[in-house]
Amino acid sequence: MRTAVYPGTFDPITNGHLDIIFRGMKLFDHVIVAVLVNREKDTMFTVGERMEMIAKATRDVPPGRIEITSFGGLLVNYVRESGADAILRGIRAISDFEYEFQMALMNRKLLKQVDTVFMMPDERYSYLSSKLVREVASFGGDVSVFVPDFVEKCLKTKCEGRPHV
Ligand code: PNS
Repeated sequence: MRTAVYPGTFDPITNGHLDIIFRGMKLFDHVIVAVLVNREKDTMFTVGERMEMIAKATRDVPPGRIEITSFGGLLVNYVRESGADAILRGIRAISDFEYEFQMALMNRKLLKQVDTVFMMPDERYSYLSSKLVREVASFGGDVSVFVPDFVEKCLKTKCEGRPHV
């Protein structure tokens, strides 16, 4: 069985993330979506809320194909503990490349058997990020094409009385 860890902040999950999860499931038998809990990141949603949104967005996936979890500290430690074969990451544009390249090589230096598999999301999502979604939502903009309906509602609730993200 081939397992990939798909790590990220997912604050919140977007249709771009979901696109990568579903593409990843074509290559891997088991995809572990691992939500970062490192404290220094000031997130809009709690880890529990982020995991719940991912679970809801992937509720139609057959049992056993996907697992939603959280991790703290170094990603490679989590990858080692989980016994995963690879790290899965989405790459949207050239601007992502340098950061992803550095992370992939650093992770491989720290855990030599781990490789990172990059997948490109549908071009509709090539400019989409959780950060932009939070920003647009915080000013009342329409993010309905970028996130599942219930995430849009969660954003609206969070953004009430919160002008900046
Ligand atoms: O969705 P993001 O915020 O781009 O995800 C970044 C993430 C979570 C993959 C990265 O920050 C990470 O792996 N953090 C855990 C700490 C770690 O291992 N850092 C060294 C990476 S080379």
